[in-house]
Amino acid sequence: MKFLTLHEMAKQARQNLARGEWDYLIGGADTESALRRNRHGVDSWVFRPRILNDVSSVQCESQLLGTPLRIPVVMPPIGSIQAFAPEGGEAVAQAVQDFGILQILSSVCTPDFVTVAQRVPGPRIYQLYLVGDQSWMDDTIAQAIDSGYTGFCLTADTQVYSRRERDIIKRYVPASGRVAGGGDFQYQASMTWDTVAHVKKKFDIPLIVKGVNVGEDAKRCVDMGVDVVYISNHGGRQLDHTRSCIDALPEVVAAVAGAVPVLVDGGFMRGADVVKALCLGADAVGMGRFEGLAMAAGGRAALVKALEILEHEIKTTMALAGANSLDQLTPELLERTLPITPAHVLSAFPLLEETGY
Ligand SMILES: Cc1cc2nc3c(=O)[nH]c(=O)nc-3n(C[C@H](O)[C@H](O)[C@H](O)COP(=O)(O)O)c2cc1C
Repeated sequence: MKFLTLHEMAKQARQNLARGEWDYLIGGADTESALRRNRHGVDSWVFRPRILNDVSSVQCESQLLGTPLRIPVVMPPIGSIQAFAPEGGEAVAQAVQDFGILQILSSVCTPDFVTVAQRVPGPRIYQLYLVGDQSWMDDTIAQAIDSGYTGFCLTADTQVYSRRERDIIKRYVPASGRVAGGGDFQYQASMTWDTVAHVKKKFDIPLIVKGVNVGEDAKRCVDMGVDVVYISNHGGRQLDHTRSCIDALPEVVAAVAGAVPVLVDGGFMRGADVVKALCLGADAVGMGRFEGLAMAAGGRAALVKALEILEHEIKTTMALAGANSLDQLTPELLERTLPITPAHVLSAFPLLEETGY
């Protein structure tokens, strides 16, 4: 891979994708305000850097559910990821293993989860949308456990499919076939806390609930034995006008009170963004469009390269903020301010505008 910056990675992705796939990747729901607000939230935190700490060696290795993470980052579920690189979820699995982090594989991408597990054995989390009744769900979870998945993720912010107008206007239907008003959401829509209780009672696999935004729900997850609380608004692709995910972090972290790990995603594109989330108490950060852009830029090799650049950015940011280990990343290293540029999905890459996007 020739690129040396994430700017170049994003530019390459834009060049490689047709308009329909590009808009499916970067678009959000309705007015796309939740999408922009995620980025606005990340840009609203600035560093209060400390000086004269020895940063000759910066450590940022971590772990999640017993899986070592070379950086505190996970690759979240991306449905129809084969639209960006034909090898789809399998290429992400390989890249993630090459680099040394963790993947949450979507249930609506190819190859299917059993095939991915056979071809790329290793720790991995499976994310499920319910397209069948409870016995269908039970069979699927049992199959995931048999296939070696080390965690199970229920996405709770997608009880119905939102109106993604970039796609609707172009009559674009993603490979998953999922569209606003689509009929296959009856089971997903009727999911409740009882579903969580059922999974916890019946299966011995760590459970992640993805789509948490408020402290009360986070606390309820903890009380019910959920193993990881995952703050997300689906990258602004589901409920529009949600608060940004980074702004939900302090409340959720306080409610969880260290009982279980907290993941967050939504608008995190660069190493400094990851460091901000860690300062506010996240244990790891999901980067969805980063994953999609890297895949579009060149599949497995490009994703590995993008992660290497991300690691460099994280370590550089930590060093320059005066932190040489993750436990030195605390809220005191940040303060809130007004962003200096208008937020949009690619505003982490301001040089793209200068180069013609
Ligand atoms: C193209 C695309 C497809 C996605 N598909 C899924 C999915 O199948 N399941 C899921 O739980 N989340 C899905 N998400 C949401 C991501 O897992 C993640 O929450 C979101 O991308 C984070 O925001 P970010 O893109 O700003 O990093 C998808 C996101 C994108 C961009």
